[in-house]
Amino acid sequence: MHFFPPLTPALTLALNTLHSITAPPVPSTGCGNPLPEGLFPGGPSVNFTIFAPEGSGGQRRYLLHLPERFDLRNRTPKPLLVVFHAFGQTTTSIEDMSGFSDDTVNGDMVVVYPEGINNTWQGDPSSPPTPTLDDRPYIHTLLLHLHSTLCLDTSRVYATGFSNGGGLAGLLACYPPTSRLIAAFAGVSAAYYTTESLGEDIFENGCRVEEGRRMPMLSIHGSKDDVVAYDGDNSGVDWDGDGRGDPDTVPIPRWLSEWGGRNGCQGVKGNLTLEADISMNWHIATGDVVNATMVLENGSVRKSTWTCRGWSGVVTGYYVAGLGHGWPSTVALDEGWEGMRGGPSSWNASSVLLEWFKKWSLGGDRRWG
Ligand SMILES: *[C@@H]1O[C@H](CO)[C@@H](O)[C@H](O)[C@H]1NC(C)=O
Ligand SMILES: *[C@@H]1O[C@H](CO)[C@@H](O)[C@H](O)[C@H]1NC(C)=O
Ligand SMILES: *[C@@H]1O[C@H](CO)[C@@H](O)[C@H](O)[C@H]1NC(C)=O
Ligand SMILES: *[C@@H]1O[C@H](CO)[C@@H](O)[C@H](O)[C@H]1NC(C)=O
Ligand SMILES: *[C@@H]1O[C@H](CO)[C@@H](O)[C@H](O)[C@H]1NC(C)=O
Ligand SMILES: *[C@@H]1O[C@H](CO)[C@@H](O)[C@H](O)[C@H]1NC(C)=O
Repeated sequence: MHFFPPLTPALTLALNTLHSITAPPVPSTGCGNPLPEGLFPGGPSVNFTIFAPEGSGGQRRYLLHLPERFDLRNRTPKPLLVVFHAFGQTTTSIEDMSGFSDDTVNGDMVVVYPEGINNTWQGDPSSPPTPTLDDRPYIHTLLLHLHSTLCLDTSRVYATGFSNGGGLAGLLACYPPTSRLIAAFAGVSAAYYTTESLGEDIFENGCRVEEGRRMPMLSIHGSKDDVVAYDGDNSGVDWDGDGRGDPDTVPIPRWLSEWGGRNGCQGVKGNLTLEADISMNWHIATGDVVNATMVLENGSVRKSTWTCRGWSGVVTGYYVAGLGHGWPSTVALDEGWEGMRGGPSSWNASSVLLEWFKKWSLGGDRRWG
């Protein structure tokens, strides 16, 4: 075992960046197939349906978008972004809200917006419980289907969502059949319900993660979110209209630090021990750095990052002062959602998500080393 002085942040950044540039794409089996009917690069998004496995809702719908730069011959692998709508939100609404189908926001990734049954997802107290309706096998089937029809880089598949949809992105991280296919996960104003609130344990101890796998996780969450409170205490509001306070969610700092733990970056703060493995991929062996905090956007955003085994920002949290329940962006959201958000911001969550996703890939670096 070799010991080296701690990596400087600049060096860590340089190494991480170098890696994401050099990791080659892993083309999907769909490369070279004719494009699905009606779908063309930069064209309007198209609804498709697919049959999900037993217990996953039968015929399911999703909205699909190809960026302008997608190869018309379907031969150049592109990353895939999976984006989940909120409880009661349409796929068109999350498409507009996120701007991911806008080439000025996202010129590179194919985007799929899956639709929930009755536009809701598993993991909310008012959705059917998992044994009745499990959305995860639907997404698993959908991902494999997209792999076999589009030319995708299977090492660069990312999942995110808003509110209930952010919760589902989290559940996909906790379910090995889907987590194996996805390089990184993120939630915006995401709802991760406690076992007590849900009556089943899918977000807490029930979260299953493959050993030794790097699981990048990002959260963007507002201090004024009164639908899914940052600290998880929703007792002050009654959005579900049952005359009582709403059920607790997992406090965001706990959700993040648990992912820090699953990524092996929970440990003593400071005091790094570094080693280099045979292929000279740097990582920190023990006592990893946890939660370095920086203040951004004139103090309205606090970014916490967990550096795990030499990779900076594997777990990343944005605490956004003043943000309500919404998707931060410089533009107004559609009616209904704008009221809960508390106004536009000077930045776009979508750009933050894309920049962070681009750091991660499955493939050679899928395991820690
Ligand atoms: C896709 O289907 C949904 C649900 O029926 C519908 O609201 C939406 O307008 C459709 N979008 C497109 C682009 O066809
Ligand atoms: C969807 O809504 C319909 C009509 O309200 C209801 O009958 C059905 O049970 C709902 N399905 C699920 C899975 O919640
Ligand atoms: C990160 O650490 C800071 C300072 O110890 C703390 O205030 C903050 O809540 C932590 N962030 C998260 C998301 O746990
Ligand atoms: C770091 O190491 C120093 C010297 O060995 C020790 O005094 C200090 O308590 C350690 N700090 C932490 C956070 O473990
Ligand atoms: C930053 O905060 C300071 C102090 O609150 C304020 O005077 C200034 O206008 C803010 N600047 C921006 C760009 O928001
Ligand atoms: C945010 O995105 C909108 C488009 O949705 C764009 O017009 C604007 O320039 C972006 N702003 C920043 C600061 O990225």
